[in-house]
Amino acid sequence: MATRKSLLDLTNISVPTHVAIIMDGNGRWAKQRGLPRQAGHRAGVENLRRVIDACVEFGIKILTIYAFSTENWGRPESEVRGLMRIFSRVLDQELNELHEQGVCLHHLGDLGGINASLQEKVLNALELTKDNDRLILNVAFNYGGRAEILHAVSEMLADNVSPTELNEQIFSSYLFTHGLPDPDLVIRTSGELRVSNFLIWQAAYAEFYPAPEYWPDFGREELFQALVAFSGRDRRFGLLSED
Ligand code: FPP
Repeated sequence: MATRKSLLDLTNISVPTHVAIIMDGNGRWAKQRGLPRQAGHRAGVENLRRVIDACVEFGIKILTIYAFSTENWGRPESEVRGLMRIFSRVLDQELNELHEQGVCLHHLGDLGGINASLQEKVLNALELTKDNDRLILNVAFNYGGRAEILHAVSEMLADNVSPTELNEQIFSSYLFTHGLPDPDLVIRTSGELRVSNFLIWQAAYAEFYPAPEYWPDFGREELFQALVAFSGRDRRFGLLSED
């Protein structure tokens, strides 16, 4: 049976540079408690604050979160409106603290698809935090991996990138994550085992960690256990093990 390492014992833990999280299970967390789904999303936001703090504490340099997918528009209108309200409120209430903490916000996805006032808040947050370097927080919002790839191809065609010069490095430079290393570890909460159109190019060699907890219950200790599991993985990138 795997032993659980005690908290804060970061010795012998290899901390990944880039962690990406599919924050799943807000709705089921709420349902389990007889609450509306929106209460689950609010609890999800509170938990995000805990996880950001833990990332800073553990020395993770890049955190990418899947906040709203291109497919999420298909949810009932009231839930979509509720989520937009939450994102807007988070930017109003949390931005200064994130900035003081040294968090640099990036957006992954299509900003054009969201309402003008939220767009303006996002752009303002990106500008305010652009020089921070303690933690890069990529927020995938109105994001889909396939849409990102199509967007990259379309930009490359517009730039007349020649088929003979095209390589993985050039292609990566057209993705929303350009300039950043690929995720080392992808965590999905709530026990689901799907990738769900998240970072489908960038996560080619990421280690996948399914966490059983619903997102609002995936806190500092659960993140630490994910790092313990990551440290035990033998990353081969298609090569042979050193042993
Ligand atoms: C999945 O739960 C979560 C989402 C649809 C994203 C919402 C994320 C948050 C509210 C966290 C905060 C993020 C930001 C950027 C403020 P689900 O509704 O799919 O859960 P279910 O599968 O149990 O129904």
